[in-house]
Amino acid sequence: MCGIVGYIGDRSAVEVLISGLRKLEYRGYDSAGLATISPNSKELLRIRAKGKLNNLEKKLIDDPSHKDAKIGIGHTRWATHGKPEEHNAHPHTNSTGSLAVVQNGIIENYHALRVDLKYLGHEFISETDTEVIPHLISEFLRGNTLLEAVRLAVGKLQGAFAIAVLSADYPDELIVVRQQAPLVIGIGKNENFFASDTPALISYTNVIMALENGEIGRITRSGVEIYNFNGDRQKRGMQTLSWNPVMVEKQGFRHYMLKEIHEQPGVIRAGLAKFVNEKNEINLGLDAKLNLQDLTNIQILACGTSWHAALVGKYLLEQLVGIPTTVNYASEYRYAAPPIMPNTLVIGVTQSGETADTLAALELARSRGDRTLGITNRPESSIGRLADQVLDTQAGIEIGVAATKTFVAQLLMFYLLTLELGKSRRSLTTEAISTIIEGLRQLPAQIERILESQERYIENLAHRFSHARDVIYLGRGINFPIALEGALKLKEISYIHAEAYPAGEMKHGPIALLDENMPVIAIATPGQVYEKVLSNAQEAKARDAQLIGVAPMSDPVAVETFDHILPIPIVDEILSPILTVIPLQLFAYHIAAHRGLDVDQPRNLAKSVTVE
Ligand code: AGP
Repeated sequence: MCGIVGYIGDRSAVEVLISGLRKLEYRGYDSAGLATISPNSKELLRIRAKGKLNNLEKKLIDDPSHKDAKIGIGHTRWATHGKPEEHNAHPHTNSTGSLAVVQNGIIENYHALRVDLKYLGHEFISETDTEVIPHLISEFLRGNTLLEAVRLAVGKLQGAFAIAVLSADYPDELIVVRQQAPLVIGIGKNENFFASDTPALISYTNVIMALENGEIGRITRSGVEIYNFNGDRQKRGMQTLSWNPVMVEKQGFRHYMLKEIHEQPGVIRAGLAKFVNEKNEINLGLDAKLNLQDLTNIQILACGTSWHAALVGKYLLEQLVGIPTTVNYASEYRYAAPPIMPNTLVIGVTQSGETADTLAALELARSRGDRTLGITNRPESSIGRLADQVLDTQAGIEIGVAATKTFVAQLLMFYLLTLELGKSRRSLTTEAISTIIEGLRQLPAQIERILESQERYIENLAHRFSHARDVIYLGRGINFPIALEGALKLKEISYIHAEAYPAGEMKHGPIALLDENMPVIAIATPGQVYEKVLSNAQEAKARDAQLIGVAPMSDPVAVETFDHILPIPIVDEILSPILTVIPLQLFAYHIAAHRGLDVDQPRNLAKSVTVE
């Protein structure tokens, strides 16, 4: 969580920092702040504001002192230690105010360091863990360069963090540190940048240099030097990103989330174009090192929406290939991993590629000798360096905090992985694979049909339910994870309490919650469990619940069963999750938008959860 950004060059540092922070605000928006060095007085200047970036921008209008600065660091905060108040906002400084630090992550031993530093006479103003860092660096500055002082200070820090340091005594350099939290350096001509994430850089440069964990960077306007924590100089190449700045704009949509919902047909087309040829042959480019022929089981690690995609993956891998598969909350796996088994493939699924729990769980699996595969839309992220191999879902960057297009892209990867394994292990015939691929090829047009012909209807229905206090979602089989995902979307952005159950479980307890005030959304697609779900829906109707079905409009039984229908085209049950999730995303989106909520930046959430 938290976003950090920095600049040195000839542009207005404030402009670059604000533009970068705007792109990083999805990482946290409890407060924002920046520090620059005045080109005239050579003093370090700092400005901070509680709440969203707009508040900082308003303050900057009344404080022109930063305007001519050509060097600076900025921060947008997701509060961990200390309330979201201005005195806890970053940057934090040393006692004299000559040195400023921004941090993303957690300093686990901050309390002991704070006690020691207080004993040495340092005064603390905030309740944050970060504030120990500028004080510690200033202790080491006596007789050392800034780079060396930062290196020595970092040696005392425990935890996962990325740090940036600006000092009035070193007005031509920025020092950055990466230790288990993301940080990327952007390379320009006579100017350089850094940020927690590439969207903050892309308006200025698409040439980046990745800092590895355990490294320190010294950034000047003309170059970048990288050192390890022992102080040894490291060699590093550059990478060129294939993005363009337009990709991170709203492109006329009211919210990023709505834009990303509408991008889903394109995401599926891109995934199919990348991995499937016109003869319906799949090639994921999986490395022979992964030895997929020998696999006896698969463990999937993920959190949140990615965990829901993993549940669909488990269904496919077990039902179509017959490989025993477990889906683990990464945060639980870290402390209660299943017993070591030979021939295990561990798959980490993460859209951001930076989720601390997923990375730590995957690292544990690696240390136990398991082969590891990552599924992400951000192959340049930390999971790209951690897993033996990563599959790029082709979804590109997602800005809305509520995941939509990246979920659908993860689902597609599980379909393709299942089919590839089904082929190599001969559990699926070429004909069966071709039929599923042909079905996948129809999905983009089917999603487009929902978006074009049903969105207005779903929006109106969403308005009718926008005052609900609770909503129950039901699904069975391959669509139970979609019920979970629908409920999560509603909770995250509309703040309406929602729970999902396997439809058959409702009678074992949750049915007691039903009355005329409880909307129940049931996913009912023709197939193995269709009649069962319709019966479960009838049980809810008999208790006066308001029944909404995600179902084909063309089926008279569904029309008769449900009070309202979120319609989907008729599709093979095995492929249905990619369609059934679309109306649920739209339903949640239109409820939240109608309630006037901040859809893209819901309260208390952040796009990349980089703390444990
Ligand atoms: C999704 O809408 C949520 N914002 C959240 O549950 C998310 O899926 C989870 O934090 C995992 O993120 P990741 O995919 O980046 O690892």
